[in-house]
Amino acid sequence: MATAADGRGNWGSRAGFVLAASGSAVGLGNIWKFPYMAGENGGAAFLIVYLAIVFTIGISVMLCEFVIGRASERSPVGAFAKLRGGAWPIVGFLGVAAGFIILSFYSVVAGWAVAYVFKSALGLLQTSDPAALGRLFGDFSSHPWEPILYHAAFMAMTVAVVIAGIEHGIERACKILLPLLFLILVALAVRSLTLPGAMEGLKFYLYPDFSKVSAQMVNGALSQAFFSLSLGMGAMITYGSYLARHENLTRATLMVTLFDTAVAFIAGLVILPAVFAFSFDPSAGPGLVFITLPAVFAKMPAGVVFAVLFFVLLTIAALTSAVSLLEVVVSYFVDQRGMRRKRSAVVAGGLTFLLGIPSSLSLGLWKDHTIAGKDFLSLMDYVGSNLLLPLGGIAVTLFVGWVILPRALEEATSRGAHPFSLARGWVFICRWVAPVAIGWILIGGL
Ligand code: PFF
Repeated sequence: MATAADGRGNWGSRAGFVLAASGSAVGLGNIWKFPYMAGENGGAAFLIVYLAIVFTIGISVMLCEFVIGRASERSPVGAFAKLRGGAWPIVGFLGVAAGFIILSFYSVVAGWAVAYVFKSALGLLQTSDPAALGRLFGDFSSHPWEPILYHAAFMAMTVAVVIAGIEHGIERACKILLPLLFLILVALAVRSLTLPGAMEGLKFYLYPDFSKVSAQMVNGALSQAFFSLSLGMGAMITYGSYLARHENLTRATLMVTLFDTAVAFIAGLVILPAVFAFSFDPSAGPGLVFITLPAVFAKMPAGVVFAVLFFVLLTIAALTSAVSLLEVVVSYFVDQRGMRRKRSAVVAGGLTFLLGIPSSLSLGLWKDHTIAGKDFLSLMDYVGSNLLLPLGGIAVTLFVGWVILPRALEEATSRGAHPFSLARGWVFICRWVAPVAIGWILIGGL
């Protein structure tokens, strides 16, 4: 059993684990990406497809990852090597690559959130004029070096938390701040829903228009489910590896999935009604949160306070996710290469920072340079989220369903200590539904 004494570190408690895994799951994916994806893909129709995927494939993959992590007490590459070996550790390497790619652009967007903490505190965002807010965001995100500075600052914070280690860094940050984020989000939803004209947005969000369903949209929903739940690259394998043997894995899986989904759903209730109330375009893409939310704040009493608080919390939500992305890379160097945590965090963080620079420039100086029709940031997002994560999901479910099933079932029930009534359904999803559906959706979306 992994103990603090073996040098890998451990969670302080089960609540700590659930919160840390939720911290990984809840991030920019929920608050920045989900609302704009729903906006671009026809609102409720996207929501329904998304929920269907989360509660069948998503939740099953998460349990697989926790099982692999705890059964092996290793980070992804070592986990596959220990449980089976052969070519399986390649899956772990793909995860490390995905972590690196996703974190590079993630940190750029998180840097925008950091910048908006200062901009809102300085009162620069106090207008509900959509055009002005749009210009402000455009000028900022296309600036040659200002966003890179914030990207650097965010990366530095991420490295610092990872160096501080499992229990004292990650767990502590999540415990206090996630519940606070949730409360703020609920308050914002109330404000947004009571704006004049908000009901149009609510309709868009909750009445499905199934003509919007397409292969691309289903692929988008699948990618988003993996991204939002932090699946397919071994983040949850890594987190599961630090969990004590007797804890109830299936319950933890359910709690993390529910919490993550609730936050995304509420973020939609904040953003989309406001988008309609202020006549923004719901398919405005990545800038949506940074343009619409300031308009909502400007219409609230004590809006500045809410604005600062919100962007602080968004930064923190992004931080607890970024930490898990970096942790996948770092734990590989620590577990497999025997490197020191501090050194590997600094090196991996530095390289990721460099890879993020073209993503940042792709909104400004390099706007016209596209690869396969995508700017660099979208390309990184596409390769990471739409390709690598679903591929990782196929590998993980096949591994659990066909390669280590008896061991996996033992682990899922904590050696019989916690009954798992849906075990047969889970096995069926792992063996058949998930690999086939993910493969089919992947091919359809290409
Ligand atoms: N789940 C995070 C979010 O929704 O923002 C992003 C993420 C973290 C994706 C960790 C993947 C991952 F392994």
